[in-house]
Amino acid sequence: MTEPLPTPRTFLPSGPLRGRIRVPGDKSISHRSVMLGALAVGETRVTGLLEGEDVMATAAAMQAMGASVEKVGGEWRIHGVGVGGLLQPQAALDMGNSGTSTRLLMGLIASHAITAAFTGDASLSKRPMGRVIEPLSRVGASFTPSPGGRLPLMMTGASVPVPIEYRLPVASAQVKSAILLAGLNTAGITTVIEPVPTRDHSERLMRSFGAELEVGEAGGERIITVRGEADLRPQTIEVPGDPSSAAFFMVAASIVPGSDLVIENVGLNPTRAGLVEVLRQMGASIEETDRREVGGEPVADLHVRHAELTGVDVDPALAPSMIDEFPVLFVAAAMAKGRTVTRGLEELRVKESDRLAAMAAALFSAGARVQETEDGLVIDGSGGEPLRGTANRPVQTHLDHRIAMAMAVAGLSSKDGIEIDDTRPIATSFPDFQALLDKVST
Ligand code: S3P
Repeated sequence: MTEPLPTPRTFLPSGPLRGRIRVPGDKSISHRSVMLGALAVGETRVTGLLEGEDVMATAAAMQAMGASVEKVGGEWRIHGVGVGGLLQPQAALDMGNSGTSTRLLMGLIASHAITAAFTGDASLSKRPMGRVIEPLSRVGASFTPSPGGRLPLMMTGASVPVPIEYRLPVASAQVKSAILLAGLNTAGITTVIEPVPTRDHSERLMRSFGAELEVGEAGGERIITVRGEADLRPQTIEVPGDPSSAAFFMVAASIVPGSDLVIENVGLNPTRAGLVEVLRQMGASIEETDRREVGGEPVADLHVRHAELTGVDVDPALAPSMIDEFPVLFVAAAMAKGRTVTRGLEELRVKESDRLAAMAAALFSAGARVQETEDGLVIDGSGGEPLRGTANRPVQTHLDHRIAMAMAVAGLSSKDGIEIDDTRPIATSFPDFQALLDKVST
């Protein structure tokens, strides 16, 4: 198959962003809804599922392992195989760009006696899988990865999986979730200890599907236990809007003068809401209205108006709750008055791209004052002056959707516009990004 060609695009300066938008469903919750639905016996119904390429890769993999996943009208219907019932896939599981699909599915397969091969695109094939291979090997799975613990890889799940107790060496919801998912088909109690809390969607959803999952605390650490050989009950799930997608519009409306935008139905789980807190510290005007619960998660509409932003020292403790939002936070910082300092962000180097290097290079080429350190960026903002723009020197996005969207937002507040080398990866998480931008730009 020939790969589709890169799709460059220039994002031009925009007038105020106005109106109301609804961002697509949360990517993390969408992946987990499909996986858990595929393990429950009976029909799980999901509305608001993110139909981005990443979640579709998860859906295709679950189908390849025996579940049925189909869209009927506006709703997704999943018929599961039961915990322990995954079938051996007949072909390699193509994970595309999706680290979440890969790591969580490795967890699921680790406690099923089946063999699977994983492949992915150039970005995913550079990302470290050792962080899940290590604990899942303790469960009893065996792995043949490419050099450096990377994709493509083959794995065989354990026929008698072992319940493990594992303290996370990196703050990673993907590693936590992989172990908990393996625990579902492992006799006994699987325990994950989290020194630093990460997004807890797996815990919330596994419980609502009927798994016996407990969350405790000891010595400042979160202790999560799940009892294996669970019977999962099918659920009806409404997926809330993705705060990581809303982030691009929060920053866009904050930096483009005159903007007044409502973003509806945004998930505000405390383990995801760090960006809202940091933007408020910078002086952003973000008002929450109609706070409610959707799909077991706190949700609100966000009313964002343009505001003068001031640089801040971002508390590294907030990093896990805004880990995917740093690219666009860096754009806000480039437009703020004064200096923004970020630290403790070494995890950003192993995302879809090295996001510290990619954003430092991209913002520099657009005329921002930015300095890259080992574990963060230091940015001296323009004080609200539009950035110069890239004028025919396209920004390199390295197959990273969030670099593309962050720099698209920067383009809205630039003099000459910002050219992005390739906008295709945006479809992995936010297929209607451009359409929503067109809808609210004036
Ligand atoms: C995710 C967890 C995060 C995040 C990713 C989605 C998830 O990764 O960056 O986009 O759904 O669990 P890590 O857990 O590796 O930090």
